[in-house]
Amino acid sequence: MGRILVVSRQGPDGHHGRGVLVATPTAAATDLASCCRDTAVSVTGRTEPISTNRLVLTPLRVEDAGEMYAVLADPELYEYTGGEAPSLERLSEIYRAQTSGSPTDGETWHNWVLRDIETGTALGFVQATVTGTTADVAWVVGVPWQRKGLAREAAIAMCAWLRGSGVVGLTAHIHPDHSASAAVAASAGLEETDALDPDGERVWRWPAPTLPIA
Ligand SMILES: CC(C)(COP(=O)(O)OP(=O)(O)OC[C@H]1O[C@@H](n2cnc3c(N)ncnc32)[C@H](O)[C@@H]1OP(=O)(O)O)[C@@H](O)C(=O)NCCC(=O)NCCS
Repeated sequence: MGRILVVSRQGPDGHHGRGVLVATPTAAATDLASCCRDTAVSVTGRTEPISTNRLVLTPLRVEDAGEMYAVLADPELYEYTGGEAPSLERLSEIYRAQTSGSPTDGETWHNWVLRDIETGTALGFVQATVTGTTADVAWVVGVPWQRKGLAREAAIAMCAWLRGSGVVGLTAHIHPDHSASAAVAASAGLEETDALDPDGERVWRWPAPTLPIA
């Protein structure tokens, strides 16, 4: 898996990367539903703020690195994704790349910082890499804020926003033993598939793969 995290397949030099928190440019992301590419759907290029009951998802800014550096500093976050906590300098570099957008034609990067809707405190992030009309999604919640349903809340809101923006297929790549992330994916409507990606992560997908008719 990309050996620097910040959950994603978005690399600082504009390439895809494996894994999670801040991805290094390595393997290409799974690309599903390419059959839908030519449909007349307008997938938005602009990342918009999204509000939920307890959170506001704010489009990532380079200046968020200062706050997010602390959120991402806990080694526990990297248990299933690999990688390590980025330095402030590295995180700033990554955020500069992520806010500049993908250099790849037909690909759009969306990154949101999760903030407490009352206090504005940064507590995690969610991310989507849109290719054509499909999106690969990922989520991270800082350790002090975990197990409160916040990842579920953020993922549901992000996936609804993506669907409302014209996305017709979602994927997530989740370590087979990562039950918390699997629960988040299921909440957002994704279903586990039999497929493992080249890094051994399970591919989750919405809509669910169609079963052959017996
Ligand atoms: C995965 C992650 C985002 C979940 O965040 P969270 O805010 O704690 O998740 P939620 O509170 O919405 O809980 C989702 C489900 O996971 C369960 N869960 C949360 N943390 C768990 C843990 N450490 N062990 C077991 N289950 C856990 C919750 O109980 C809930 O399931 P339930 O509703 O059936 O009880 C968080 O653990 C994280 O950021 N991990 C590190 C980064 C990462 O691995 N991201 C995913 C990459 S695919």
